[in-house]
Amino acid sequence: MNYINKQYWEKFYKKRVDLTESSTFSEFIFRKKERMIKNTILIDLGCGTGNDTFYFAKNGFEVIGIDGSEEVIKNNNITLKKYLNTNNKVHFDCVDLSNENEVQKLMVKLNEISMSQEKDILFYTRFFLHAITDETENLIFESILENIQIPCEIVSEFRTKEDEELDKVFDNHYRRYIDTDLLITKLINLGFSIQEFSKGRGLSIYKNENPFLARMAIKKN
Ligand SMILES: C[S@@+](CC[C@H](N)C(=O)[O-])C[C@H]1O[C@@H](n2cnc3c(N)ncnc32)[C@H](O)[C@@H]1O
Repeated sequence: MNYINKQYWEKFYKKRVDLTESSTFSEFIFRKKERMIKNTILIDLGCGTGNDTFYFAKNGFEVIGIDGSEEVIKNNNITLKKYLNTNNKVHFDCVDLSNENEVQKLMVKLNEISMSQEKDILFYTRFFLHAITDETENLIFESILENIQIPCEIVSEFRTKEDEELDKVFDNHYRRYIDTDLLITKLINLGFSIQEFSKGRGLSIYKNENPFLARMAIKKN
């Protein structure tokens, strides 16, 4: 397995600094999960510039942002020192989520942290599932099932196969347009239950791009 497009992301984050606004998805999830703030650690997998990670932190969640790009994690740590006060519980880690050892180590650590604090875990992924291969997706879901022993939920927003032919602002890198029927069947077979699912357009408009996206919430059975 490999972190596909690593060079693309490192270059992208060296040049780009304007992705700092929180997404409509993070606001949607915050409204739904606000009541869980005190007893939950939110893990933002594939956090990129941390726009959503910082949004959740500023609004009271304890958060950990994970990304494989060294460049973006370095920048996020600089932002963290500059702008956030010590009351905000936020931390960033560089982890290659396509690497079996790294994923295993991360999940064991997250399980220990949440058990020691008696908190549940909310995995949050936005525009991440379609940025990884099918094998990496399997690795992450299987590792969550194997290593996380406390209640946990995963919420995701991602591009679906209906989005493939639509216009994009950034159109020069790997994307896996997800067949949601296949994904749902796979997740149920693995041992998750689907709590919520919807798909369509108008969910996360960026400049002149109105992508076709799915939003999904699943729980470990
Ligand atoms: C499309 S960006 C999404 C960023 C952010 N979640 C957002 O909504 O703006 C996808 C992110 O996934 C990260 N990523 C892709 N493959 C990865 C891997 N194997 N391990 C860790 N991060 C990865 C990239 O570095 C990139 O930051």
